[in-house]
Amino acid sequence: MMGRDWRQRGYNIAAMRDLARGILPRPVFDFADGGAEDERTLRRNESSFSDIALLPQPLNGAAERDQSLTLLGQKLSMPVIIGPTGLGGLFWPDGERCAARAASRAGTAYCLSHGSVCTLEQLAETKAAPRWMQVFVYRDRAFTRELTERAQTAGYDALVLTVDNQLLGNRERDIRNGFQIPPRFGALDMAMMATKLPWLLRMRAEFPRLTFGNYVRPGKPENLKTLAGRMNLLLDPSMSWADVDEVRKIWRGPLILKGILHPDEAAEAVKRGVDSVVVSNHGGRQLDGAAASLDALQGVLRAVDGRIPVLLDGGARRGADVVKALCLGAAACLIGRPALWGVAVNGQSGVAHVLDIYRREIDRTMGLCGVTSLAGLGPHLLLPKGALHA
Ligand SMILES: Cc1cc2nc3c(=O)[nH]c(=O)nc-3n(C[C@H](O)[C@H](O)[C@H](O)COP(=O)(O)O)c2cc1C
Repeated sequence: MMGRDWRQRGYNIAAMRDLARGILPRPVFDFADGGAEDERTLRRNESSFSDIALLPQPLNGAAERDQSLTLLGQKLSMPVIIGPTGLGGLFWPDGERCAARAASRAGTAYCLSHGSVCTLEQLAETKAAPRWMQVFVYRDRAFTRELTERAQTAGYDALVLTVDNQLLGNRERDIRNGFQIPPRFGALDMAMMATKLPWLLRMRAEFPRLTFGNYVRPGKPENLKTLAGRMNLLLDPSMSWADVDEVRKIWRGPLILKGILHPDEAAEAVKRGVDSVVVSNHGGRQLDGAAASLDALQGVLRAVDGRIPVLLDGGARRGADVVKALCLGAAACLIGRPALWGVAVNGQSGVAHVLDIYRREIDRTMGLCGVTSLAGLGPHLLLPKGALHA
């Protein structure tokens, strides 16, 4: 890269996004950046953090801060976890394994998407830990069972069952861009892509290998395009609590439901023996008009009433956002797009840099709030709702 070192130029998450935008072809950038339909939920995910203000207590004196926590029996060095994002290998060669290694080195968890380019076994070979595996409920329930059992055999520390993706969201940026999997570029695209040459050169050798690794059947070579088409048909919109029970029976470790916004579903999850929920709207990529994650958090927390840890994802772009979510009662935040920006900018070290940005911002926010550990965060550090514009 020309000019100053990318680390200096990517000094916060927004700057990392700008760098990624410069690197990636437009359809690939938009695939990650975009949301469903009018992107209202996507925007609200971020803006909801501005509706909450911190009330610091600097005289508490917080010379040293510790942001570590124990979550589902695992010690994490920071309250930021890399959430599942499909096709990580489209942003950088072996993108998923790069991200998992960066998370592991930073002392936090990485969740592999069902739709990763590498297989879950290949990810496990890195020994990156803690590692979580994300699955769906499929029309062929035997396939849900198979993926779950493979994750168990490969030593995953938690299983994430995503429940808000049983019908694919209407992502209009992808439609407008003619985004295809694998990417195809016509002559005009190529001319416009002169500035994206480094990405193209890096990824050229990868294109034939790009696939949804976990879906490939031995002896049945399928390309990414046919798999992508088939995958949507595999998902079952009739999924119900009976399916959660079934997965609960098969999976012996911590089970996390991702995509919970309604308090009643959170309460039911606890009853069904689920170990944690992620309050999430899939980063605004599924149901446009769904509540922002932060707006839904309090209802879920009330319903769960401290019985299981509650996680949140969607729109956390600053360490202060993570601190606000934790003050409300979340145990930790997952990040989706920011990790992809890191992968796109510089593979493993790009993701390490993204995690470092969060770590430094959380540390500074805790110090300015007068808090030495995550246990010290709570609603007493927030301006009461309604007082913001009073
Ligand atoms: C490109 C992309 C792919 C994603 N793929 C998956 C997926 O395979 N499974 C899943 O549960 N969530 C998936 N998500 C949703 C993320 O896990 C997460 O909920 C969301 O990105 C969080 O919001 P944030 O991007 O604002 O941090 C994806 C998100 C993006 C941006």
